[in-house]
Amino acid sequence: MANKTVTITDNSTGKSVELPVLDGTIGPSVIDIRKLYPALGYLTYDSGFQSTASCESRITFIDGDEGVLLYRGYPIEQLAEKSSYLEVCYLLLYGDLPTAARMEEFKKNILHHTMVHEGLRDFYQGFRRDAHPMAIMVGVVGALSSFYHDSLDIHNPRHREISAHRLIAKMPTIAANSYKYSIGQPFFYPDNSLGLTENFLRMMFATPCEPYEISPTLARAMDIIFILHADHEQNASTSTVRLAGSSLANPFAAVSAGIGALWGPAHGGANEEVIRMLDRIGDPKHIPSVIARAKDKNDTFRLMGFGHRIYKNFDPRAQILRDMCHRVLKEIGAENVPLFETALELERVALNDPYFVERKLYPNVDFYSGIILKSIGIPLNMFTVIFAMARTVGWVAQWTEMMGEPDRRIGRPRQLYVGSSRRDYVSIRERS
Ligand code: SDX
Repeated sequence: MANKTVTITDNSTGKSVELPVLDGTIGPSVIDIRKLYPALGYLTYDSGFQSTASCESRITFIDGDEGVLLYRGYPIEQLAEKSSYLEVCYLLLYGDLPTAARMEEFKKNILHHTMVHEGLRDFYQGFRRDAHPMAIMVGVVGALSSFYHDSLDIHNPRHREISAHRLIAKMPTIAANSYKYSIGQPFFYPDNSLGLTENFLRMMFATPCEPYEISPTLARAMDIIFILHADHEQNASTSTVRLAGSSLANPFAAVSAGIGALWGPAHGGANEEVIRMLDRIGDPKHIPSVIARAKDKNDTFRLMGFGHRIYKNFDPRAQILRDMCHRVLKEIGAENVPLFETALELERVALNDPYFVERKLYPNVDFYSGIILKSIGIPLNMFTVIFAMARTVGWVAQWTEMMGEPDRRIGRPRQLYVGSSRRDYVSIRERS
């Protein structure tokens, strides 16, 4: 940690306070403001946490200006090309790439937890058949607490590790069951002779009536999508998991809260909204009017799949998915499918429009993942579920890191109060 400091002086009183500057390994340094309020009586204000570091972390690094994303120091481009989702799970959880022996042991541990308690299967019955699978995920994952809550000492590192393994292993099963329930088909038990991603595809699409052949191309595309969505620093859903976990809630409840946060169309729900937006646009000739709406400050409409809080350059995940998207569309001969023609034209127009260029609003991970998932036949209402499945390892890795901090405290932000000053109660007879 550097011994740099900054001094803040209150010009109305002349009082000053010297605040330490903390340096990370790479990326922006931070001003440690913990002494500010005791010294000068001021809180800091940062609606949306645009300039606030909420924690120290060793897991993921993002440089939004350079379009850099590192998992435990490894560039996302190299992991997407050379690694697997399960190996990335190990990397995010334990901090280094595994040896062959450790990977074999880790794979066995994860596959040992892929089944869910038979009682959990009954939870689905309470949902309407047309319930959004994300609504089912929030409920069923939260319900996992009732199966493990009493066998979980969150202060015990081994218990925390088993919970992390359980969540990573069971999410594909819970997710596939959510889809099967919504279409009235029977659930499939996991087949542990398959890898995590292949297992998910089989539980999603197999039926008891005929053999299901797993396409290696599809399995690899899904594995890369899982890798790209595995973690992303302190995004809204990860911050939700950390905040929920900071109250010492069990990890299943914390991850259920994260799923809820991810569902929003400004966050993980954007991939589903991209397709709905493209469907509404229809013919590319409507693109100019859509772009005009996206630029109109009086219109709440935003171009789904564009923009990012941190990336003011191309989202490196979007770059990888963009190449994959064009490859998949070409491979399945779908380039001339109207919806994809509209997507590619919208990308072209937005990337050349001054409004988007000035604000550095590039297509993000959700723009291309939405198109790829649609083109490979994933049902629209499962897009964000897949994001949640992939992000589970990031959530539990960040939760584990937080729970291991010696100075861990409950997260409890303050506020700028702009409501009524103190006033006395008036009986209803005297109110006008
Ligand atoms: C994810 O945080 C993460 O890391 C998230 C994520 C992850 O992996 O966890 O990367 C996943 O959530 C990706 C983002 C998916 N969401 C969308 O695609 C929804 C559409 N995007 C926007 O809602 C928006 O871009 C956000 C929410 C992503 C970012 O919002 P910010 O950082 O609060 O940006 P902003 O509102 O301050 O926008 C800056 C300007 C504004 O215009 P001005 O006030 O400067 O004139 O850009 C405009 C905004 O109006 N703008 C858009 C726009 N996004 C921003 N205008 C039109 N369309 C958009 N999509």
